[in-house]
Amino acid sequence: MSAPELGGRDGFTSKFGILCAAAGSAVGLGNIWRFPYVVGESGGAAFLLIYLGLVVLLGIPVMLSELLIGRRGQRNAFGSFRLLAPGKKWWLVGVMGIAAAFMILAFYSTIAGWTLEYLIKAFSNSFSGKSSDELGAMFQVFHTQAFRPLVWQVIFMAMTAGIILGGVRKGIEKYTKVLMPFLVVLLLIMAIRALTLPGAMGGLSFLFKPDFSEINSRVFLSALGQAFFSLSIGMGTLITYGSYINKKNNLNNIAIEVSVVDTLIAILAGVAIFPAVFAFGLDPAEGPGLIFHVLPNIFQQMPGGYFFAVIFFLLLVIAALTSSISILEVVVAYLVEELKIVRSKATLLATVAALFVGLFCTLSFGALKDVTLGSLSIFGVLDFTASNILLPLGGLFIVLFVGWYLKDSDVKDELSNGGLLKLKIYRLFRFVLRFIAPVAIAIVFMHSIGLI
Ligand code: TRP
Repeated sequence: MSAPELGGRDGFTSKFGILCAAAGSAVGLGNIWRFPYVVGESGGAAFLLIYLGLVVLLGIPVMLSELLIGRRGQRNAFGSFRLLAPGKKWWLVGVMGIAAAFMILAFYSTIAGWTLEYLIKAFSNSFSGKSSDELGAMFQVFHTQAFRPLVWQVIFMAMTAGIILGGVRKGIEKYTKVLMPFLVVLLLIMAIRALTLPGAMGGLSFLFKPDFSEINSRVFLSALGQAFFSLSIGMGTLITYGSYINKKNNLNNIAIEVSVVDTLIAILAGVAIFPAVFAFGLDPAEGPGLIFHVLPNIFQQMPGGYFFAVIFFLLLVIAALTSSISILEVVVAYLVEELKIVRSKATLLATVAALFVGLFCTLSFGALKDVTLGSLSIFGVLDFTASNILLPLGGLFIVLFVGWYLKDSDVKDELSNGGLLKLKIYRLFRFVLRFIAPVAIAIVFMHSIGLI
């Protein structure tokens, strides 16, 4: 079938804008909060090597598939599937993505709210003179109470909605074009500060000198999960963004560049964090509390710590914001295009709905901590369902759709911009999509739900 035409749609205006928006989506709490502690728990450099291999082998092909579906379909995640596979049930993949968007938004805004609180704490010099135990208690008291975390969550979602209200060109592109370069500069400053601490080498060798005895199947699987989450794939975020990309832009390059930037920034976050952790003799395997407990401890001990604490938490807020808008946009684009709701109403509706779920998420660290399913809190259930079930399933269906359902000639046509671009490794891409990716993702998926 030929590429559908849909004139007058909002979209990105430049290649730089596309890169900032898509890299803004990919670079988030996943890179700066999650990546360092997962590396810390999984043995450092050996994990990093596997992670890099998986990004190249699976991450880039899945990302390219999503961009391709979106640009071919010229619609939101649901609409693109319905348009490209009329009369078939593939739109269910889009529905799954929209459900995952709500769940991820709910728990993402909980953590993002914490980062706002910590930005204010850094500003008001609240870490200074506190012992490690006192800083641990500070985090404990803050994140288990009800009122403050909820207020921050509402504020964070209001910021997200404020950008989304502006649309693609005057919202997403306009803000990410300013925020992303700023983020890179802040992160570089942080990395240089960390590298110039006495004792920094220990952190670097932890990050870059692989110990292969640490590799086992669990490390493999957590690397794949991290890669999906970090690259924003499996949920339709990049289908939605892909639909805003001009037909003249080269999707192949965008997928590669965004993946490279996302990976470099994760590594840079590691470079900013591990040397400091080692220089002050702290535990790299501390877990999810790493940045809220260990880092304030480091900041208040190091020269210039006040300044660097503010930079670090500002960086986190920016990273979280440019990601959360990409998740909210999945829902808003659906409401606008499929249910014909005007953008302002759709944004309000989606934000309030996500906040409603999100409130339970935030409270599950305190007031609702006894409401559990198995051993998981509400936060844990949402995180698990979205990240470990819906994302891999979504990724699986996306590669199957492009690898087996779409006609080879259509895929080639979209990737080559109608024959204008030369496709260099198309056969390899096709082979990975048809065979390697589905099998690899299926293995992870079955593992994460406990089937193998
Ligand atoms: N990639 C982002 C991060 O690393 C989070 C994110 C944004 C995401 N959009 C997504 C995760 C879509 C999964 C699916 O923090």
